[in-house]
Amino acid sequence: QAYNERESLYIVLNFAKDFFAKNLMTEEGKSIGLSYFKERGFNQNIIDKFDLGYALDGWDHLHKAAKAAGHSDELLMKAGLILQKEGDANRFYDRFRGRVTFTIHNLGGKPIGFGARILTQDKKQPKYINSPETEVYHKSDILYGIFQAKKSIREKDNCYLVEGYTDVISLHLAGIENVVASSGTSLTENQIKLIKRFSDNITVLYDGDAAGIRASLRGIDMILEGGLNVKAVVFPDGEDPDSYARKVGSAAFTTYLEKNAQDFISFKIGLYAEEASKDPIKQAELIKQVVQSISKIPDPVIRTVYIRQSANLLEIDEDIIQAELNKIYLKGQ
Ligand code: UTP
Ligand code: MN
Ligand code: MN
Ligand code: MN
Ligand code: MN
Repeated sequence: QAYNERESLYIVLNFAKDFFAKNLMTEEGKSIGLSYFKERGFNQNIIDKFDLGYALDGWDHLHKAAKAAGHSDELLMKAGLILQKEGDANRFYDRFRGRVTFTIHNLGGKPIGFGARILTQDKKQPKYINSPETEVYHKSDILYGIFQAKKSIREKDNCYLVEGYTDVISLHLAGIENVVASSGTSLTENQIKLIKRFSDNITVLYDGDAAGIRASLRGIDMILEGGLNVKAVVFPDGEDPDSYARKVGSAAFTTYLEKNAQDFISFKIGLYAEEASKDPIKQAELIKQVVQSISKIPDPVIRTVYIRQSANLLEIDEDIIQAELNKIYLKGQ
């Protein structure tokens, strides 16, 4: 058996994916995991499409089954599936216990990791537990849902970017398949390059809370820097794409996305406009914010288009924008 380490990792991660899927159909899995998915509106079709599952409650269900199937402790550790007990290097426990599982796939569809959601309201435990970085799971290189989305991203020539696992799944249920999640961490250059293989257009759909807006602003600048076009949709406070899609239904949700997709300048202006209208200092701040984003755009032609557009929207002279841009470029030298 001459598998190299990466191949062995893929095999054991696939084993875990199958194990979690099987567990979902046990008595415990059905009454706790499956009923949770059903409550969220997830049907069997979407459960299969995303390899959703359930990790039984207990310390070593996966470990035992994997050992019986011939997988070594060392490999299970390297895959991030089991952890060494503190103070006892020969005792292990399962990382994912008593949670529903979301399989993270690589671009080719192979399982490379898992996210696992808690089912109780226990505030002492994290809502999601995720696989660690491994030889085959580089978090900064992959996006959740890319395997299921890539064809649609190319066809629609646009990629929706959301924060969470369940946002991706809800959008699929609403008939929108060109969607990936940054999984609650800030977007990286490699993730943007990954999207760019399929489309030059990204629409950011982050949660309608302060953290989501902050993350959108950061993400937008990263995307511009990558030379892609970016739009953003703002959701009502407290809603995320998943909750909002379920609240208003597929048709209204799709219309909402189409009507509310703003280019990044309008998005920024919308965020600061109310304050800025009364306060000249805030107005200056807004101009600087917009110019900051424009300065990230590598293509001078596209930059010029945005300079013109923002001058119009902000009702100021293009020269002022250009002067601010020059300041930023001088600082960067
Ligand atoms: P959210 O807190 O917005 O969760 O985090 P969610 O996706 O809306 O999940 P539900 O609807 O409450 O089930 C967004 C993403 O951030 C990561 C996960 O990838 C999550 O989907 N996250 C969040 C974690 O990794 N750990 C956490 O404890 C919380
Ligand atoms: Mn890497
Ligand atoms: Mn959130
Ligand atoms: Mn959310
Ligand atoms: Mn949510």
